[in-house]
Amino acid sequence: MNQSDWVLVTGGAKRLGREFCLAFARAGWNVVCHFNTSDTEALETQDMLHDLGKNCILIKQDLSTPDAHTHLLDKCASQTGQLPQCIVNNASVFSIDDATSSSAAVLQMHFQTNTVVPLLLANSLALRAKTAEHPAKHFCVIHVLDQKVHNLNPDYFSYTVSKLALERSVALQAQALAPSVRVCGLSPGLSYLSGDQTQDNFDQACKINLLQRQIQTVDIARTAVFMAENQALTGCTLQADNGQHLVPLARDVMFGINPQVGA
Ligand SMILES: NC(=O)c1ccc[n+]([C@@H]2O[C@H](COP(=O)([O-])OP(=O)(O)OC[C@H]3O[C@@H](n4cnc5c(N)ncnc54)[C@H](OP(=O)(O)O)[C@@H]3O)[C@@H](O)[C@H]2O)c1
Repeated sequence: MNQSDWVLVTGGAKRLGREFCLAFARAGWNVVCHFNTSDTEALETQDMLHDLGKNCILIKQDLSTPDAHTHLLDKCASQTGQLPQCIVNNASVFSIDDATSSSAAVLQMHFQTNTVVPLLLANSLALRAKTAEHPAKHFCVIHVLDQKVHNLNPDYFSYTVSKLALERSVALQAQALAPSVRVCGLSPGLSYLSGDQTQDNFDQACKINLLQRQIQTVDIARTAVFMAENQALTGCTLQADNGQHLVPLARDVMFGINPQVGA
């Protein structure tokens, strides 16, 4: 990493996305924080990064449209004057369904944002890198996954299938995009309250992992910085989840605590 390097974090305005922005900024990177609807939180994230003395450019882009990845990379390149050295594919749709209630529309919605956009952002970065001003530069793409893909249960069916496809693509893309682009996966465990989950349910569920304590989101974010800066890593996935993926459950962890939640 040198002082002019940029990371693009998708869905970077709040929650884990903001942690990624902060961790990269603390490590000296400039940040392109992509967001869609969280305008206020994006401005807050930008202020936090400016307080750390780093550049932060905000880009608003809905990722649910077919050419979203192209528009996002175009805006990113035109505003920073270069390709991002690293892309953290963090933006994600997470809506509840199961195998029998899933529909084409819900499956496609999850696939577009959670699978298609991350894969095409990585491919476009590799294609543009060939014609970039410094073609010898090395780039890194981090696909943010979920411990669920290593610890299957059928809840959140469409979300899980979309993340499984992305997880299986890590090795394929690492092979296809080498040597200019490294591709890694990062699987967080339960980190934030989601949907109609109660605080009480979350407080219990977040300790269902080998270490029996809540995952520190800053540790997940620092794992992404490590992957971006460690030039030896490609085609691999790290689980930053306090060992949650080694605690099998028949249902999603939030139903393990309180079967009524989200049912
Ligand atoms: N939260 C957890 O406990 C947990 C556990 C395991 C894995 N993960 C993974 O970690 C990552 C971050 O989790 P999170 O809970 O922080 O994510 P999140 O809040 O559910 O979503 C992150 C961002 O994705 C953006 N997004 C969603 N649909 C979009 C669209 N159509 N166009 C553009 N942006 C869109 C949203 O941006 P705007 O708000 O700007 O609209 C949102 O802020 C995700 O990839 C998730 O799968 C999370």
